[in-house]
Amino acid sequence: MSLKSPANAKINLFLHITGRRANGYHELDSLAVFASTADTLELTLAEGVGGRAALSIEGPFGAGLQADEGNLVLRAAAVLRDKAKKADLSDLSIRLMKNLPVASGIGGGSADAAAALRMISQAWGLDCLNLEALGETLGADVPVCVAGRPRRMQGIGEILSDVPPLPRCFMVLVNPGVPVATPAVFKAWRASEAPFTPAAELSPRWDTFDAMISDLERTHNDLQAPAIALCPVIGDVLAVLRSRTGCALARMSGSGATCFGLFEREADALAASAALLAKGWWSDAGLWSTGGAAGSSAAHELGATER
Ligand code: C5P
Repeated sequence: MSLKSPANAKINLFLHITGRRANGYHELDSLAVFASTADTLELTLAEGVGGRAALSIEGPFGAGLQADEGNLVLRAAAVLRDKAKKADLSDLSIRLMKNLPVASGIGGGSADAAAALRMISQAWGLDCLNLEALGETLGADVPVCVAGRPRRMQGIGEILSDVPPLPRCFMVLVNPGVPVATPAVFKAWRASEAPFTPAAELSPRWDTFDAMISDLERTHNDLQAPAIALCPVIGDVLAVLRSRTGCALARMSGSGATCFGLFEREADALAASAALLAKGWWSDAGLWSTGGAAGSSAAHELGATER
């Protein structure tokens, strides 16, 4: 048996820090969307001889990762092994094609872990598991990556609400090649003594690209300023993105350093991405996933905060 799945990059259109928990984690309000750019996982189920899963890592950013027990793909496999009460992982052979820059604010490791949860549970016939709840034990961004569709994220990232389908939009991703450690950026935010920000107030739905942009302009990413202080090239990336024809909004995702630009016209997005690549930065462009039928229920509003 062989399965293949993309693990799409997760982008935070905004990220407000609304509070802090006793365990040090920060309470957030964010809208996560998924880019067309993705890692790829292939899973083969075979007779094993006992012991560990085989994990091989390839692709342009593969060299930055170890295929050891700390790898989120193998940690996801171990969570399912425990849940299924299996003796070992030796029937799993996993190939990860790492196309996304690591430690870059686009949830690459989380998306890989979520894809591993989906594929291994399917291969082992574990139908009734709540993969989002299991994903929470692996990282705050893993739950939203399980379904991989646009969702509002609250709590520390584990409280997810569906949103109405988003307008068509081309997203340009840019990463300057400098890894940024998430805990360091949260620490710098705390050191700046910036106040907590209220949850974003959004219109019930966005029927047009312009309606979405005007709402998003009233939101921000609280981690952007501290990330720029730690890694000033992020400011340069944003300045170049903003200068491009057709770029309606440019912002950093997550704790950085990857930034995104939103474009209504594909030609403008492709031209911007080519110009950013010419600067020696990593970049990719494509149509984002709008959410489709899964998010189309009239009961879901952008401003809703479900628990
Ligand atoms: O959960 P994850 O491993 O992605 O988080 C990495 C680090 O980011 C945490 O150890 C914590 O320092 C910080 N973090 C946080 N609040 C969140 C998510 C992450 O403080 N909601």
